[in-house]
Amino acid sequence: YQKGVQYLYENSNGIMSRVPTKYILPIPERPNSRTEDHCNARSTNLNLPVIDCAELQGPDRSQVIQSLAKACEEYGFFQLVNHGISREIIQNMIDAARRFFELSFDERAKYMSSDMFTPVRYGTSFNQNKDKVFCWRDFLKLSCTPISNSLEYWPSSPIDFRKVALNYANQTKSLYLMLMGAILESLGLLEEPVEEVNGNPILKEFEDGSQLMVLNCYPPCPEPDLTLGMPAHSDYGLLTLLLQDEVKGLQIEHQGNWLTVEPVPNSFVVNVGDHLEIFSNGKYKSVLHRVLVNSSNHRISTASLHSLPFDCVVRPSPKLIDETNPRRYKDTDFATFLEYISSREPKTKNFLESRK
Ligand code: SIN
Ligand code: FE2
Repeated sequence: YQKGVQYLYENSNGIMSRVPTKYILPIPERPNSRTEDHCNARSTNLNLPVIDCAELQGPDRSQVIQSLAKACEEYGFFQLVNHGISREIIQNMIDAARRFFELSFDERAKYMSSDMFTPVRYGTSFNQNKDKVFCWRDFLKLSCTPISNSLEYWPSSPIDFRKVALNYANQTKSLYLMLMGAILESLGLLEEPVEEVNGNPILKEFEDGSQLMVLNCYPPCPEPDLTLGMPAHSDYGLLTLLLQDEVKGLQIEHQGNWLTVEPVPNSFVVNVGDHLEIFSNGKYKSVLHRVLVNSSNHRISTASLHSLPFDCVVRPSPKLIDETNPRRYKDTDFATFLEYISSREPKTKNFLESRK
């Protein structure tokens, strides 16, 4: 099963009628089972709060900043529209990801590695060295830190892959910086709004920060009610910018329910990561999310995870600590943090809880 689910799918000749045992979750963990703390309805859809980038640049900025704060507090997620990245760049990225997973297995396997820190890594499941039950997902992780050193290791096929992914990574990074400017403002940490993002000293440590792109492939699954595409987890960084194709699958935990995020074409799903929860001293929450699979369609998504530089200490902003808001998280360095997340059980945010 280490060869991944796309391999299983390709070699089934369209006649796979059961999922292999390796993918079958215990009953309480299946997508539709009700548990004490969750009502797991597959059918409940959610339209996320919408943040309009064009409005953010206009006269109603302060209202949008308020909506942004509300979305980060209540959902930990929002849908970003009018973000200025062209349809073409977005479509090219999704297509390039799709074409990568359609390469022959031998071609994809060139990028397999058990080393977490290689600039490119093809793999399967969530943490394939540790998962007792595998999930129905293959991935390609591309390090972008710094992009100039990583690029030569990225896949050279399909044709155009590097060019498309590089362009997309750079544009996503600028969009992230613009959003971080708005996030700092929403937390009351700026004297005046950030206007120019590139080279702005206020955003320097974010500009120097880490970026990881994760391309996900979820092939059709014969028994989607027995397994998950990705188990419940929170993202580690400050912000994740996610592109999902038109196929549903992403669910977020909201008020004790698993809700399916409706895909909105040409928009990004943005979510608060653990580092932003720490940095905001708990004002903004990193929220658990997971992925469902289905029996008829491939689903492709691309997540761009952004955080501080690797040598940075992650800590609550001193300006957000006072008598009424005591410090809620200990300082932590990135290396310890990454070690922790590579060994943690998904489904819990116990990193954060253990550090209060
Ligand atoms: C993720 O949680 O990083 C991926 C979500 C998705 O595929 O929609
Ligand atoms: Fe995630």
